[in-house]
Amino acid sequence: MYRSHTCGELRSDHIGNQVTLAGWVQRSRDLGGMTFLDLRDRYGITQLAFNEEDNADLCAAARKLGREFVIQIKGEVIERSSKNKNLPTGDIEIKVAELKLLNASKLPPFTIEDETDGGDELRMQYRYLDLRRKPVQQKLLLRNKLALETRKYLDDQGFIDVETPVLIKSTPEGARDFVVPSRMNEGEFYALPQSPQTFKQLLMVSGFDRYYQIVKCFRDEDLRADRQPEFTQIDCEMAFVEQEDILNTFEGLIKHLFSAVRGVDFTEKFPRMTYEEAMQRYGSDKPDIRFGMEFVDLNAVAKGKGFAIFDAAETVLAINAEGCSEYTRKQLDALTDWVKRPQIGAKGLVYVKCNTDGTYKSSVDKFYSQEDLAEWAAAANAKAGDLLLVLSGDLHATRKQMNELRLHMGNELELRDSNTFKPLWVIDFPLLEWDEESGRYHAMHHPFTSPKPEDVALLATDPGKVRANAYDLAMNGVELGGGSIRIHDRQLQSDMFDLLGFTKEEAEAQFGFLMSAFEYGAPPHGGLAFGLDRLAATMGGSESIRDYIAFPKNNSGRDVMIDAPSPLNEAQLNELGIKLK
Ligand code: AMO
Repeated sequence: MYRSHTCGELRSDHIGNQVTLAGWVQRSRDLGGMTFLDLRDRYGITQLAFNEEDNADLCAAARKLGREFVIQIKGEVIERSSKNKNLPTGDIEIKVAELKLLNASKLPPFTIEDETDGGDELRMQYRYLDLRRKPVQQKLLLRNKLALETRKYLDDQGFIDVETPVLIKSTPEGARDFVVPSRMNEGEFYALPQSPQTFKQLLMVSGFDRYYQIVKCFRDEDLRADRQPEFTQIDCEMAFVEQEDILNTFEGLIKHLFSAVRGVDFTEKFPRMTYEEAMQRYGSDKPDIRFGMEFVDLNAVAKGKGFAIFDAAETVLAINAEGCSEYTRKQLDALTDWVKRPQIGAKGLVYVKCNTDGTYKSSVDKFYSQEDLAEWAAAANAKAGDLLLVLSGDLHATRKQMNELRLHMGNELELRDSNTFKPLWVIDFPLLEWDEESGRYHAMHHPFTSPKPEDVALLATDPGKVRANAYDLAMNGVELGGGSIRIHDRQLQSDMFDLLGFTKEEAEAQFGFLMSAFEYGAPPHGGLAFGLDRLAATMGGSESIRDYIAFPKNNSGRDVMIDAPSPLNEAQLNELGIKLK
C-alpha cells in the first residue's frame, strides 16, 4: 500500500499513530535545525517535520526536495506546536522516519497554489499542472457531483440512459457540423452530433418512454465564455407528455441539483414568462432577473418634441439606474463609449440625471423642458437621485443594445451577486425567425418543434406569428437549457420542412428516416436538454464554462496542450481520398 491515509485526513485523534503518506511537495521551509514540507494530494495538505538532531541524513534529503516532487513518507502523527487554524490538518504534523522519492519534478512553469502567477495560455498548455490546483479541482468535483445527482434523480423517475451514435449524418440543424471523412466510403463524410435530437425522438417511437443521456455534443460555431466546440448536455426526452409535464419534471431536477450540490433550496415554483414579455421587459430571451432595471418605453413622452433622432426612431427605451444621478461627466462619457463599441453598436446614449434638488439635467436639454423630463422620470418610476439611460432606434437592435447596457450596469452596480440564483422558464417562443441573409425562415429552436395547436392556422398566412411549444430555462442571464414538444405527425413534419425552404427531395434525403418512423405509430413526445458545463459554471458563480471542463479548447478552438487540430500526413490523406485545396 502506498499510503495509509490521504493528506487531508489526519486530525489530533490520530496523534501517536504510525502512518504512510504519499503526495506532492507543495513547498518547504528551513528553520535552522528543522525542515518542514507541505505534502499535498487532492484531499488536502499535511505538514511533514524533519529534525536535524534526530536524523541529519533524512533532514538533508528533505532539503533537496523541490516543488512538485512526488514522495512517500512513513512517520508518527504528533501534535503541532504552532497550530494552523486555516488547515483541517493544522493541529498535527508528521515526525518523518522514512522518506522515499517516487518521482522528481522539473520546476513547474507556474506556482501550483490557489493563487497562481500563471497566465491563461500557459495554464492551458500545462493543463495537467493547472488541474493540481485546489480551486480548479473543486470545480471538477462540483461537476462530478452534478452528473452523479442528475443520474440519481432521473433514475428515480424511471429514465433510462441510452447511448446514441457519435458518427452520424450531416444536417443543417443550426450550427455548422464538424465532419469526419469515411475511409471505407471514400468521398463521404460523417458528422459529429450537434445533439442527439433525432435519435432520442426515435427512441420514443421505439417505446422507451423516458430517455436521458449525459452526452458530448459538437458545434462548429464562434466561441464565447459560455460556448465550447464540444460540450456536454443532460439530454432528455419523454413520451405521452405535455409541456406542463416536462416543465414540472425538469424543474424538479434543477431543484434537486441545487439542493444536493449547492445547498440551495428553491421553495417556490419557478416563475414563467413568455418570450414576448421577456423581450419587452429585458430585451433578452434569457433575462437576468436578479435585479430590476426593466425597460421603459418612452415613445409616448419622448417623441414629437423636435428631437429628430427620437422622432425618427422606431423605439425610445430607457432604464433607470437607481441612485446614480451623481455620475460624473467622465463616467457618462465612458458609458457612451461603451455602448458605441462595435460589439454593442449603439449610435449614442442619452442620459437624464434626476437631481436630488428635484431638477433634471440631460444630454438633450435643448429639446426637452424640465416638465418633459419630469414626464420621462414618471414613466420610468425614477425618483430624485436616479439616472435614466436612454437608447433609440430600430426595435430589435435597440432592445439588444439595451439588454447589454442593463447587464453592464448590473455589473457596475454589483446587482448580479453570484451566490443568488434566479431561475426563469421562458415559454411560448416563436416557431420561426426570419433570416435576412438567406431571405427565408429558420426554425428558432429546431425543425422538429411543434407549433402551438391554436396557432397552426397561421402557418399558411403569417408564419412569423406562430408560437411554438418551446421553452428555455434561464438563470442569472444564462440559458441553462431548452426544449420543446415535438411534431410526431409525418404530414406536419413534412409541411414544416416545406416552410423552412427544404425541397421534398432534400427533406427526404436528410430526415426521411425520421418521417418514416412517424408512419409506424409515433407517440406524442417532447423533451429538453440542459448544458452541463453551463449548469456547473452558473452554480459555481462563474460566467466562463472553461474552468469546469477538464481539457477545454481556447477561443480559436485549439487545444494548446495536445496542439490540436493538426495537419494530416500525405499517407493519411491518400487513404481517405482527400486532396487539400
Ligand atoms: P439547444 O441547442 O438549446 O437544444 O442546447 C441545449 C443546451 O445546451 C447548451 N449549449 C452549449 N453549451 C456550451 N457550449 C455550446 N456551444 C452550447 N450550445 C448549447 C445550452 C443549451 O441550453 N436538441 C435540443 C434540445 C431539445 O430540444 O431537447 C438542443 O440541443 O445550455
